[in-house]
Amino acid sequence: MTEAAGHVPVLAGPVMQLLAPGPALTAFDLTAGRGGHAELLARAVGPAGRVLLVDRDPANLAFARDRLAALHVDLRPAVETRHASFGAIERLAAGLGAGPGPAPGWAADVVLADLGFASTQMDDPARGFSFQSDGPLDMRLDPTQGETAADLVARLPEAELADAIFQLGEDPFARRIARTLVERRTRAPIATTADLAAAVVSAYGPRARQSRMHPATRTFMALRILVNDELRALDHLLSSLERGARALTPGGATPATATWLRPGARIAIIAFHSLEDRRVKHAFADWERAGLGTRLTRKPVEADESEIRANPRARSAKLRAFQIATESVAAR
Ligand SMILES: C[S@@+](CC[C@H](N)C(=O)[O-])C[C@H]1O[C@@H](n2cnc3c(N)ncnc32)[C@H](O)[C@@H]1O
Repeated sequence: MTEAAGHVPVLAGPVMQLLAPGPALTAFDLTAGRGGHAELLARAVGPAGRVLLVDRDPANLAFARDRLAALHVDLRPAVETRHASFGAIERLAAGLGAGPGPAPGWAADVVLADLGFASTQMDDPARGFSFQSDGPLDMRLDPTQGETAADLVARLPEAELADAIFQLGEDPFARRIARTLVERRTRAPIATTADLAAAVVSAYGPRARQSRMHPATRTFMALRILVNDELRALDHLLSSLERGARALTPGGATPATATWLRPGARIAIIAFHSLEDRRVKHAFADWERAGLGTRLTRKPVEADESEIRANPRARSAKLRAFQIATESVAAR
């Protein structure tokens, strides 16, 4: 089942345990991907439940939608799909009639965000995410809009490229890599994944042979995060969640802050990058201190050895969960 989807959902057991989606609940899968988690959520909420699928990638969103549509009609919840960034979740939920408190609209009982990219995106040379095979240097999760990685490499000043490769990729040779990119782009555009990988290898020089991973690994990751503005999207999501939780506090809901969350809603976020996980960790701790709810995980849940063996991508996954208070007493 999951192999046909081309992506194995990570930490599926712990996600379902922490989110505890029951019959007739409303689940928001904000990163539908290939629908692995979404199918589990759909089966759990059942025919009286609802599932909202969101993804920036129209092909993944359609795949996840079709996967849920293929469930037996007696098991299938109501499904809505939105091709958008989860950073816009408040607007998306408002369009579904989500309202304050225990409203009849699509307010979420369960929210999942499984960040980053799906294996199918990484494995498709035409998407330009990987140095493993040559393709256009694209890297957009949403191929219908925005600048590609090639555009950014052609346009950004050297210092900005260096900062991105250092901060998002944590590559100690970021300055040298940025200098090489700028030198090379004056001669010919860096238009393919092979062009970028070759530039990074040349910036590494003899050190490339000593590098445990491919020298371009960190630069590719940094550019992907930059192209898709992934940290900002996560910040928007965390702010939306906090506003949603605050709107559930006594007197907290106004027409402008009509909440998209139901009291007691459970949230799970899987991060694959330390900068993402740090944001989630701090947000959940801040919300708990503010009386908005309770952390369901003190430490992140990580994959065990058998899951990592079966799905190496699970190695860097960190899952954290939070439950919005049923009766909030938040400090405002
Ligand atoms: C790790 S995959 C999700 C896999 C999914 N849980 C499954 O079981 O198949 C991440 C997905 O999130 C999408 N994505 C990443 N950032 C996003 C954002 N800001 N808004 C919406 N979707 C996003 C990607 O396009 C990708 O399809």
